[in-house]
This record gives sequence, C-alpha cells and structure tokens, in this order.
Amino acid sequence: EVSSTLKVMISGPPAAGKGTQCERIVKKYGLVHISAGDLLRAEIEAGSEFGKKAKGFMDKGQLVPNEVVVQLVKSRLERPDAAKSGWLLDGYPRSSEQAVAIKEAGIEPDVFILINVEDESLVERVTGRRLDPETGKIYHIKHSPAPKEAEHRLVQRSDDNEEALRSRLATHHKNVTDVVSHYTDVVAEVNGDASMDEVFAKIDGLLSVYTAAGV
Ligand code: AP5
Repeated sequence: EVSSTLKVMISGPPAAGKGTQCERIVKKYGLVHISAGDLLRAEIEAGSEFGKKAKGFMDKGQLVPNEVVVQLVKSRLERPDAAKSGWLLDGYPRSSEQAVAIKEAGIEPDVFILINVEDESLVERVTGRRLDPETGKIYHIKHSPAPKEAEHRLVQRSDDNEEALRSRLATHHKNVTDVVSHYTDVVAEVNGDASMDEVFAKIDGLLSVYTAAGV
C-alpha cells in the first residue's frame, strides 16, 4: 500500500464503475472512501430523519436535496481519518451548488477523475449489478460474477432499474459541465468503456504521479 494524503474526487454517470474503481484505489493507496450514495443508503438503513427524506428521491433517481447531502458529506470528510490518510470522494459534488458549498468549507481535491462511459453500456451495467451486503462488494452477473458461496445473499439496489437510471443519467448530463468547471486545473478524464483492469491501469497511472511527487 502506498502511503499519502492524496485528495481525490471521482465522478461519472451512474454505473460508470466509480465504486468498482474506488475499491481498487483504496486497496492500493489506502485513501478513505467516502461515497455520497453509500452515506445516504446508511442513513436509510438506520431509519434516520435524513434517510427518510432521501429515500423517495433516490428511488426515483433524483438528486437528494442539498440540505441533506452537503452536511453529511462535509462531516464525514472532516473526520480525522480522512485528514490522516487522504480521501476519495465518490458521487459528490453533483451540481455547481454542491461544488461551491464544499469549496467554501476549504475542501478541494488534488485530482478530479471523470470516468466517461457511453449511455448504452450503462443500462446493461446497472441491470446486471449485484451487491453483497455482507462484504459490500460490487459484482456483475456477466462482467464480474460473485463467488458461488456468496450468490444466495446478493441483492439489487432499489434504484437499479432502467427508469431510475434514465433519470440519474439525465441529471448527470445536465450538470457535469458545470461541476467540472470548478476543477478545470485538476480534471483528468478516463475512458470507462474498457475492462475494469484497463480503467484501473489508467487511474493508477494518474495517481502514482501525485504520490511519487510526494503529495
Ligand atoms: P450513487 O450511489 O452515487 O449512484 P450512481 O452515481 O448512480 O453510481 P452507481 O453507484 O450506480 O455506479 P458506479 O459508478 O459506482 O458503478 P459500479 O462500480 O457499481 O447515487 C445514488 C443516488 O443517491 C443518486 O441517484 C441520488 O439520488 C443520491 N445521491 C448520491 N450522491 C448525491 C449527491 N451528491 N447529491 C444528491 N443526491 C445524491 O459499477 C456498475 C456495474 O458495472 C457493476 O455491476 C460493476 O461490476 C460493473 N462494471 C464496473 N466497471 C465495469 C467495466 N469496466 N466493464 C464492465 N462492467 C463494469
């Protein structure tokens, strides 16, 4: 594991492979993975007020209101482990307002990775995705099948249907240029229409430069 205090944002359309790549990045670079979607799903699981507010939006594939998301992400980033080990922020910011909110809190990335994937591939990725609730691992029925012993416990996300995906995708296309405009100095685009290994090789190439430079 490479030790650093690198600060990375990772963005891309729904089911582009952000979570998949984050698993690999964390394994190699030891960054703290902070996923806005995972934070929200944990709130729903816990039955909190935030969770109750978020669920309806998420199931429809709409952005959850900023009053729920911004505070949640900011507090997680401000915990000591993120300062100590560096962080990998996944799925935030998703709008210009969210970018401004976090910038005002003094939180800025060293690198902003944008994974690009053609819309047609995303439907297949989303409908074939399966999750292991015990380990948190992400699988795909065709591209990354789960081991036999885990098959019986795999679940699908409630927003992993084509209708919600279309809505998530429309929001992504509408906002991505605005979001990226806040990070033009540090943005790096990666083609996500390739194998998981190939995508990771690209990302690894990018990040290793920063750690080698002693960030
Ligand atoms: P979130 O949980 O962030 O979902 P998302 O952005 O739609 O992204 P996903 O988690 O669906 O996909 P991923 O890119 O991680 O892909 P994965 O690696 O799993 O957000 C969910 C909802 O929460 C939002 O709609 C919104 O309501 C709310 N929310 C979240 N953040 C918010 C914010 N900031 N503000 C407001 N609301 C917010 O891969 C997908 C599948 O493809 C897997 O099965 C995987 O095995 C497979 N796969 C991955 N890579 C490849 C490859 N290279 N080749 C083939 N298959 C691959």
